[in-house]
Amino acid sequence: MFKDYFKYYKSRNPPPNNENVIDVPNGASQQVRRLPVQCSIPYNTDRSIFGLKPVNSWEIFELPHIPGLIFIKNPFTSSGQRYWITRCFKDYSRKPNKLNIDVHGVLGEQETWWEVCTRGDQRAAVLIPKLRWATLGYHHNWDTKHYTEDDKIEIPGDVDEMTKAIAKGLGFDNFKAEAAIINFYRMNSTLAGHVDHSEDNLDAPLVSVSFGQSAIFLIGGLKYEDPAHALFVHSGDVLVMSGESRLRYHGVPRIVTAGRTPWDDEQSKEDDVFVNSEDWSKARSFISEARINMNVRRVLKSGQMKLNDHEAGSEIDF
Ligand code: OGA
Ligand code: MN
Repeated sequence: MFKDYFKYYKSRNPPPNNENVIDVPNGASQQVRRLPVQCSIPYNTDRSIFGLKPVNSWEIFELPHIPGLIFIKNPFTSSGQRYWITRCFKDYSRKPNKLNIDVHGVLGEQETWWEVCTRGDQRAAVLIPKLRWATLGYHHNWDTKHYTEDDKIEIPGDVDEMTKAIAKGLGFDNFKAEAAIINFYRMNSTLAGHVDHSEDNLDAPLVSVSFGQSAIFLIGGLKYEDPAHALFVHSGDVLVMSGESRLRYHGVPRIVTAGRTPWDDEQSKEDDVFVNSEDWSKARSFISEARINMNVRRVLKSGQMKLNDHEAGSEIDF
């Protein structure tokens, strides 16, 4: 059962044995299979876009026992990693995005999480670990699990462009970022098992991009009772849940200290994004004890203009 696997990998005492955790691309050959790039993106074959390396250099894998789950081994340049880590900590962690800490009343009207947390004082130390998520686009409602038209803001253009490029490189032409959860994990954080079924469009893939410390990602079956597979997700790795895998149970039972820190690698000639060095030195200190997951979804179906709840009565012709 999913719950048993989750408990096993979450346990501190005794800690789990990770020898069955698939580490792409080094998994046993029957566990992972290299896939060709599905389509080349004309505007992206020889240059980077939003921190992504040219599409023809991506290493794409599938897990044959989990049809539809696609794994791209870190397709980001080192500057791309620094760009997204800084964007998440500095910009997505503020209004008009919604944050878990909004309801805690820990920030003043004019304050931002980044501003307070980069002061390095006692208050910063308390506030840094409190940030757990931000929602962009259609805001995920954690209680009702429903999106509504009156609870959304524009999704940042770079998030849309970057996830669209990933989807396109895998052959999904109609992806659009309409809702995103930016998850911030600390070394002791977990994300309980769940299925993401709030979107009207469950045929569109879900694009999940991670940075910073590593995680054990657990993916089960369509039923909670089904067994689960564990895989390592390292900084820059992309998981795309498409097809049948889109509705599988999944969660994060454990954060693991990263063995490599690709965000510290030297800039390469492919780089197209740059981060102010003062901002980066602050974001770099946050990421040394954190993991970021950008979980990006399409909400509407092709041709659908808005969510149904609010369509009724909106067609009045004066
Ligand atoms: C989610 C999710 C997984 C992760 O936000 O719905 O499943 O790797 N995140 O953090
Ligand atoms: Mn999820």
